Amino acid sequence: MLFRLARPFIHALDAERAHALTIAALARLPALPAPRATKRLAIRVAGIDFPNPVGLAAGFDKDARAFHALGGFGFGFVEVGTLTPLAQAGNARPRLFRLAEDRAVVNRLGFNNGGQAAALTRLERRRGIVGANIGANKDAADRIADYAVGVAATAPHADYLTINVSSPNTPGLRALQDAAALDELLARAIAARPANGPPIFLKVAPDLELADIDAIARVAIERGVDALIVANTTVSRPPLASRFGGEAGGLSGAPLRPLALARLRDFRAATGGALPLVAAGGIGSAADAYARIRSGASLVQLYSALVYEGPGLARRIARGLDRLLARDGFATVADAVGADAGRPNVGDKLESAR
Ligand code: FNR
Repeated sequence: MLFRLARPFIHALDAERAHALTIAALARLPALPAPRATKRLAIRVAGIDFPNPVGLAAGFDKDARAFHALGGFGFGFVEVGTLTPLAQAGNARPRLFRLAEDRAVVNRLGFNNGGQAAALTRLERRRGIVGANIGANKDAADRIADYAVGVAATAPHADYLTINVSSPNTPGLRALQDAAALDELLARAIAARPANGPPIFLKVAPDLELADIDAIARVAIERGVDALIVANTTVSRPPLASRFGGEAGGLSGAPLRPLALARLRDFRAATGGALPLVAAGGIGSAADAYARIRSGASLVQLYSALVYEGPGLARRIARGLDRLLARDGFATVADAVGADAGRPNVGDKLESAR
């Protein structure tokens, strides 16, 4: 309600300015308690107990300034970052656009962040489930080395790590999704994880062909990745009404929904349920979250819908999901994972064997 009243004022501001003010306001809030785990919504994925499966996607709290407050808005987990080893300014402004008519966002931020060291001091005091999304500096001579550095540095301070090779805004970064490069990257990143370090997730782009998907799934399973996040923003442009539709960068929000769902199904088919999947891209309602879960996702994440729906969204989705699961006779969210995928959920068996 409050958000509905405030939205015209927030949206009158430049998108990046509005975001900075939001983060500054959240950063001042005291640590708020994470949502309570309920029997139906709690889920164990990659050895982590999530109170509910609705997470905040990377990019909102890039510098880990606000995560302590976000659990209080109903998020079962928060992914901070993308963090790079060294601070970097990102691309020239303007670089963040609201596509209000399309309920979408285009960004070409380019991993603007204050670097890992500064964020880690804040993450030491984390509560709730917090993942750290890591990337490479634009000017790194050896980008793969940046991921290894990031894994070693952030591992003690996060519940899981996400290797992000799917941002469209660092030129050449997504080439790290090619099988040979990905294999080397994962080998070096996983070797850099300290003993008893957190699970490692891999975040992929939605702009992939079936052959890429099979290769990525194979390499991820062989290298022992713990989960796949499907997906990042898209460089494709479905029909859009907003005047910002032609801006370069990654598109997210409602127009990404069909593509992200299709890619999730592809990854579910390619992995046969052997790897937990985290769905992202155009999720804005309980029905969206439920469809992803039934298609094979164990967890979901969102960002763009928050811009339009406000801070009550995570709680509304969690409640709605609970109702949909109850309606269809699922005792737990885990029981619904892959219900529409048509294959046994091997991932759960692997999970209980961990
Ligand atoms: C993002 N996203 C993102 N992802 C990532 O891995 N690292 C990042 O730094 C960012 N930064 C970022 C900034 C902005 C402004 C947006 C809108 C998005 C991608 C995000 O985590 C998510 O994968 C996509 O936005 C798809 O989900 P939604 O936004 O459609 O719910």
